[in-house]
Amino acid sequence: MRAVDIIRAKRDGDALSREAIDSFVGGVTDGSWADYQTSALLMAIVLKGMNAVETAWLTDAMSRSGEHVNLDHIPGIKVGKHSTGGVGDKVSIVLAPVAAACGVVVPKMSGRGLGHTGGTLDKLESIPGFRVALSLDEFKTMLAEVGCCLISQTATIAPADKALYALRDVTGTVESLPLIASSVMSKKLAEGSNALVLDVKCGRGAFMKRPADARALARSLVSIGTTAGVRTEAFITRMDVPLGRAVGNAVEIAECIEVLKGHGPADLTALVIRLGTRMVCLAEKARSDDEAEAKVRAALASGAALEKLRLLIKWQGGDPAVVDDPGRLPAAALGYHLKAERSGYVTALDALLIGRAAVALGAGRDKKGDAVDLSAGILLRKKPGEPVTAGDTLMELRYNDPSRLDAAVALAKQAAVIEDQAVPEPALILGWVHENGETMFVAGM
Ligand code: URA
Repeated sequence: MRAVDIIRAKRDGDALSREAIDSFVGGVTDGSWADYQTSALLMAIVLKGMNAVETAWLTDAMSRSGEHVNLDHIPGIKVGKHSTGGVGDKVSIVLAPVAAACGVVVPKMSGRGLGHTGGTLDKLESIPGFRVALSLDEFKTMLAEVGCCLISQTATIAPADKALYALRDVTGTVESLPLIASSVMSKKLAEGSNALVLDVKCGRGAFMKRPADARALARSLVSIGTTAGVRTEAFITRMDVPLGRAVGNAVEIAECIEVLKGHGPADLTALVIRLGTRMVCLAEKARSDDEAEAKVRAALASGAALEKLRLLIKWQGGDPAVVDDPGRLPAAALGYHLKAERSGYVTALDALLIGRAAVALGAGRDKKGDAVDLSAGILLRKKPGEPVTAGDTLMELRYNDPSRLDAAVALAKQAAVIEDQAVPEPALILGWVHENGETMFVAGM
C-alpha cells in the first residue's frame, strides 16, 4: 500500500485497515517510510484518533516488529509493571524487589527520563557501577535466580516503537491515547509477562491531565492486554504533586532504600503496597487481597525486600553497599534552601513545575541524548497539607552547575502555594480498571 494513501485516509477520518496498519509499521521498521510521511500519519492519528480495533492492530504490529521474550523456562506467573510516567515516581525500583521477595517473578524493561518526567534507568545508573544494558540471556538468568531484573529495552524489543517515539517526541505527537496505548503495550507484550499491573498517572505532572482521559487510557491499556491474553489491570493515580519527597536520580534511590527500610514517605509506601498486593494476587501467590497485602507488608517489615534490592544491585554490577550507606551515592556539591515567604499551610506543589525545576538543575534532559547530572535534584521538605512558618525551608535544591540555579529557583517558587487554611488532601488512588470492570474511588471520574 502507498504511504500517501494511508495518510490521506486517516487525514479524512477513516478507520485504517489491518493491512494499512501493518504496511505503516513495516515501513517504519525497515526504513521504507520517510520520516516526513511517518510524522504526517502520526499527526493525523493525533487529530482524528483511532478506534479500539485500530489501536489493537497497531499495538500488535508494533509488538511483532521485534522479538517476544520467552520466559516459559522460569516457573510461575511472570508479572510486569509499568507507569505512564510522573515526577518523583520511583515506584518500580521499590516494587520489583518487594514483589520478588513475595515470590513473584518481575521482568521489567524501563525507560529514561524525558521532559519533566524522570526515568527508572537514569535513577538506577546513579548507583555506582549499575548496568541497565543487560543481554536477553543475562535478563533471563537473573529472573530465574533473583526473581526481578530492571533493564533497558533491548534493540530487538518493539523497534517500531523506538523509531516512532523518537519522531513523536520532536513532532508534538506524544499526547494521543492510541499512540500512548500502543507504545506502552507493544513493549509490555514483548517483555514476557503473563500479567501486568499498570499505573496510569493523572494530573498536572502527567501526560493525562484530566481524569476522564486517564480513565480512557487505562481502559484502552487493559483492553489491549486482556485481548492479547495477558491479565492486565490499571490503577489511575494522582500526579498533581510529586510522589514522595525526592525528585532527581541519586536522591530518589536514597528514598527507595528508606521505603524498603520502613521509613519512607507515606504516599510512596501506600502505592507500593497497593500495586504490590495486586502483583502478588495476579501471580497467584495469595488467594485474596488481604493475604497478598499481609505478604507485601511482611516483605517490607522483615527486610526481605531490602535484601532483594541488594541482590539486584549486585547482579547488575552496582555497589550493593549503597543499601547500608546511601552516602556512597553521588552527591551534589552545592545546595540552596528555598524558604517560605509566609506562614500557613502548603496547599499545592505543582508536579509539572517541580519536574521542570529538577530538569533545570540538570537532573533530567530537555531532549533525547542530553547528559544527566545524576546527583542533582530536589528534596521536598514540605508537602501539601503540612503547616509552614515563614522562613522554613520548603525545598532543598541540590546542584553542581551554578549557572542552572536561577531558572530552577524561579520554577520551584511558582510550584508551592501557601494559604491560611489547610485543604483536605485528595485521594492518591483515583480508580482501578480491572478484569471484572472498574472501581472508581473518587466521585466524578
Ligand atoms: N510511555 C511510553 O512508553 N510511550 C508513550 O507514548 C508514553 C509513555
